[in-house]
Amino acid sequence: MATATKTKSTYDIARIRRDFPILSRTVNNRPLVYLDNGASAQKPQVVIDALSKFYSHDYANIHRAVHELSQQATEAYEEARRKVQAFLNAPEAREIIFTRGTTEAINLIAFSWGRANVKAGDEILITAMEHHSNIVPWQMLCEATGAKLRVGPIDDAGELIYDDWAKLLTKKTKLVGIVHVSNALGTINPVKKMIDAAHKVGAKVLIDGAQAVPHLRVDVQALDCDFYAFSGHKVYGPSGVGALYGKAALLEAMPPWQGGGDMIKSVCFDKTEYAEIPAKFEAGTPSIADGIALGVALDYVTGVGLDNIAAHENDLLQYATEKVSAIKGVRLIGTAREKAGVLSFILDGIHATDAGVILDQSGIAIRSGHHCAQPVMDRYKVPATIRASFGMYNTREEVDALVKGVLKVQELFA
Ligand code: ALA
Repeated sequence: MATATKTKSTYDIARIRRDFPILSRTVNNRPLVYLDNGASAQKPQVVIDALSKFYSHDYANIHRAVHELSQQATEAYEEARRKVQAFLNAPEAREIIFTRGTTEAINLIAFSWGRANVKAGDEILITAMEHHSNIVPWQMLCEATGAKLRVGPIDDAGELIYDDWAKLLTKKTKLVGIVHVSNALGTINPVKKMIDAAHKVGAKVLIDGAQAVPHLRVDVQALDCDFYAFSGHKVYGPSGVGALYGKAALLEAMPPWQGGGDMIKSVCFDKTEYAEIPAKFEAGTPSIADGIALGVALDYVTGVGLDNIAAHENDLLQYATEKVSAIKGVRLIGTAREKAGVLSFILDGIHATDAGVILDQSGIAIRSGHHCAQPVMDRYKVPATIRASFGMYNTREEVDALVKGVLKVQELFA
């Protein structure tokens, strides 16, 4: 993180905020200060309009009928797939599978690739800062196959202890799961270096990019990861849709994970032939409107510019870190050198949930709890943290409101 500097004047924060209608509402009679972007980001009007327009004017099922509406809906959905491809710089659109989100994408890989490629005695390597969605599917795979889950440790700052993690990479390692940006700590992992090291032992690598894509430019070709997953709702798109990138050769060799309509070439009672990728992994009618609106959200993010967003958010994070850590009785949880979007902390003698309730009375939305990352809480021996997570529309004034809110919490509990 760079030293705090004033946000570049070219970043038109007032215009960006006007694009998000919810930001002008009040909560508990106070202006909303929305600092829970790590859980889910708010939606710009263009995304809301895309959903409404699709249902009002363009709605039909896709990939199935020859009538005009279905043809147009199919084209719009496939256009959205190409937008995801461009957003991740994936080589081909067929390497993008639409899913319900990151969790479903990881489960897809654990179920399909995992059951086809992992056997007793093999190992899956993750880090100690994973979200439950990048832990539990691998535990389930290990239970089903007799493989073993290994965990690379993190230090007191919330950084991966790289050498200890690298020592766990062996010929037994079949898959490495890495969170790109930790949802509980904000740590940005050195994923490129980790991917290269994992490939040296022949392991495949899946990156959980749920907290990365709203904050960082991601290029799956430069990373050379095998799989990359993200959720639409954290990148200003609808909930219920996300994407999985996978290298074509790997996806082609994988068996389907769900059977049904649209994932087949032909079905008879003796034998079913499966469709080519990506359809092979997209059984049933998908979230059509949400997929299309995700494409619109990615256009919006690209229009603002991920480098501009990153610069703005880094400034905010640095400012918030300085201001919040200066409050007596605050302990920051997660002080890695490379961070994005997240400020987690605890208050002496005050439960995070109590703080969350009182902050909410001032219109300030933060998340309090274990953030679906209980092993991270165990690592720091805390039951929960208060987490402020930033988005492209947050301001220094909102950080000031958070600081004021925290002081009020302390006053009430004094
Ligand atoms: N994974 C989401 C979060 O970090 C829900 O809050």
